[in-house]
Amino acid sequence: MGSKNKLKRFKENESFSNVFQPTRDKLVKENFELKGQWRSLVFKNDNPLILELGCGKGEYSVGLAKKYPSKNFIGIDIKGARFWRGAKTAIDESINNVAFLRTQIELIEYAFAKNEVDEIWITFPDPQIKYKRTKHRMTNSEFLKRYKNILKPDGIVNLKTDSEFMHGYTLGLLHGAGHEVLYANHNVYKQEGSPEEVTAIQTFYESQYLEQNKPITYIRFKIK
Ligand SMILES: C[S@@+](CC[C@H](N)C(=O)[O-])C[C@H]1O[C@@H](n2cnc3c(N)ncnc32)[C@H](O)[C@@H]1O
Repeated sequence: MGSKNKLKRFKENESFSNVFQPTRDKLVKENFELKGQWRSLVFKNDNPLILELGCGKGEYSVGLAKKYPSKNFIGIDIKGARFWRGAKTAIDESINNVAFLRTQIELIEYAFAKNEVDEIWITFPDPQIKYKRTKHRMTNSEFLKRYKNILKPDGIVNLKTDSEFMHGYTLGLLHGAGHEVLYANHNVYKQEGSPEEVTAIQTFYESQYLEQNKPITYIRFKIK
């Protein structure tokens, strides 16, 4: 994407009512006014709240929001020019139960309160295979702690990835730490049994992996 196009998207994001872009200082040093208040202030209802982490263009956030009008969805990514796509679609199609938050996933506990979140989707995260990058892997134990801190006690996490490494790493970590694996499938389009939305919605990255005939994997789990 050219820088002119990016700038245009950044500008539009600022004017979108469904986009929130708190600064790091706002989150960490001040009180972020939406923390603990997303349902009442943004969605104006008391419906379940579901996050998509590393949402890219936001296919899951928008797709699930259409499918489940009585749930609220927030796509989170550090790259605003990407989720501009999802935010624009939601505005054009008047899908009011989806919003987008621009922040680092590392700061998620500053953006959401304890027990505020019902479910998390992690869609095609970078597997961060190199040893030095382990700390950025979005299912490592540090990230799981952060998720646990904002999820309801029975909250669910969904991981969809093309990376066999990420799939295996996450399953191993979950089993090793005694978390509850509710369901796992290492090839969702070949092996039946995943929840319907796992095969009904494709993300931008996913469609590229599918063209290369890569198996797509899925895990649904609870953090103890
Ligand atoms: C491989 S892409 C997948 C995007 C989308 N879910 C898809 O499947 O098309 C990973 C996304 O995660 C975002 N991301 C990676 N690390 C992040 C972090 N620590 N905080 C926020 N976003 C992050 C990137 O900006 C990128 O959009």
